[in-house]
Amino acid sequence: MPTVTNPLDAPLAPRAYRGPIMHSLSAEELRFLPNGGLLVNADGRVEACENWSTLQATGRLEGVEVLSLPPDALLVPGFVDMHVHLPQMEVAGCQEKNLLSWLEQHIFAAEARFTDANHAQNVSQWFFEELLRNGTTTAAVFLTSHDEATRIAFETAERLGNRVIMGQNLMDANAPAALVKPAEQLLQETEAQCRQWHGRDQGRLQYAWIPRFAITSTEELLAGIGELRRRYPDVYLHTHLSEQIPEIEAVKNLFPWAKDYTDVYEKFGLLGPRTILAHGIHLSDDELDRIQAAESSLAHCPSSNFFLKSGRFRLFEILRRKMRFGLGSDVGAGPELSMFKVMKDGQFMQTEALAPLNALFYAATLGGAKALFQDDRIGNFEPGKEADFLILDLRGKTCMALPNASQQDTVSALTVEGGSHALLSKLIYLGDERLVQSGFIRGRRVYQAGLIP
Ligand code: GUN
Ligand code: ZN
Repeated sequence: MPTVTNPLDAPLAPRAYRGPIMHSLSAEELRFLPNGGLLVNADGRVEACENWSTLQATGRLEGVEVLSLPPDALLVPGFVDMHVHLPQMEVAGCQEKNLLSWLEQHIFAAEARFTDANHAQNVSQWFFEELLRNGTTTAAVFLTSHDEATRIAFETAERLGNRVIMGQNLMDANAPAALVKPAEQLLQETEAQCRQWHGRDQGRLQYAWIPRFAITSTEELLAGIGELRRRYPDVYLHTHLSEQIPEIEAVKNLFPWAKDYTDVYEKFGLLGPRTILAHGIHLSDDELDRIQAAESSLAHCPSSNFFLKSGRFRLFEILRRKMRFGLGSDVGAGPELSMFKVMKDGQFMQTEALAPLNALFYAATLGGAKALFQDDRIGNFEPGKEADFLILDLRGKTCMALPNASQQDTVSALTVEGGSHALLSKLIYLGDERLVQSGFIRGRRVYQAGLIP
């Protein structure tokens, strides 16, 4: 294996970032510090996140380098994308009439190209750089069914500094020959990769078992994955669930004994903590009960659901239940990686009432971290967590920053008397990746746009 230079191994001097800071404390509570300080220690962890004056009074800033944010800048946690497909980058935005025909027309061919290691290398580099450029510091990623392309993806993420949960795509039925393998071979390959990658670099790289969805899995494969789950309880399971009506009908025909779609996964022991279920659009109350009781998580992918006309996620019900859930771009059914756009689509999808802005921002940060069982290490700026954050520049998108004539910088103008509602609202409705000035993972810079010196 080639030696990698891990950017997160770079030595770090303690540093304090001074300026406006916004982060979630819960789904309901947002903390906004107009003149805040984020103190990052030499381990790349949050030492403190307070009002600047409070931080100064503690004496902890002595001898610490201070970086003052320029006007119109804002510091926020790195985004968490709970569901995204690396091999679908090049076919994002290719319209097709429904999920199953879209898979057949565009997706399987794109994934089959990963037999070529050069192609896998090029797309992996592109994908992980793009995630960082979009401000996504943590992602739960679907790959292809190729052993070598899986290794290449892990090596690339390790080298670029991304925080990831990913694994080989496991399919042994109902897909083109180039993408299916016998269950036994898939189980052997995925276990070997898990042993190599799970927990690497202090847990920055984590492994997931990825049966694509029920339709491309035989019972033998699902049973084998259930067995792996029992043997490796801290490894993730990531799959799709109940996205579209024709898909659900096909599942009924393939698994006639199952009382519903969720039951297919349940019977094989695939539900539980660290199980990530993408979409969950058409779930009954009973299915939600069982998913919640199992402590499994839902990845809500509104942009994708719009694109494929999958239906409407039951956001208010999920919030009422306090289920573990976060947001996913689901590129390539979702057209773009930007979690700003995913938050906005999450809002637009709810046509009966307004989704609370705090809940959307939470879902893209701390909520996603909680749904991935990583809220002990990322998601907001609680002391002790690893410092994954973004410096946003509101001038990055011209219609966001107010004209200079306003005398004030935009963040202050939008947060008169410390209220953050207008600022958060602008971020969600108008924000995009052009705001992302730089990105940090575990206190180290992994991305810089170069707009601000
Ligand atoms: N269901 C099974 N595979 C896929 C996929 O690649 N994308 C989406 N959106 N749904 C799926
Ligand atoms: Zn998906």
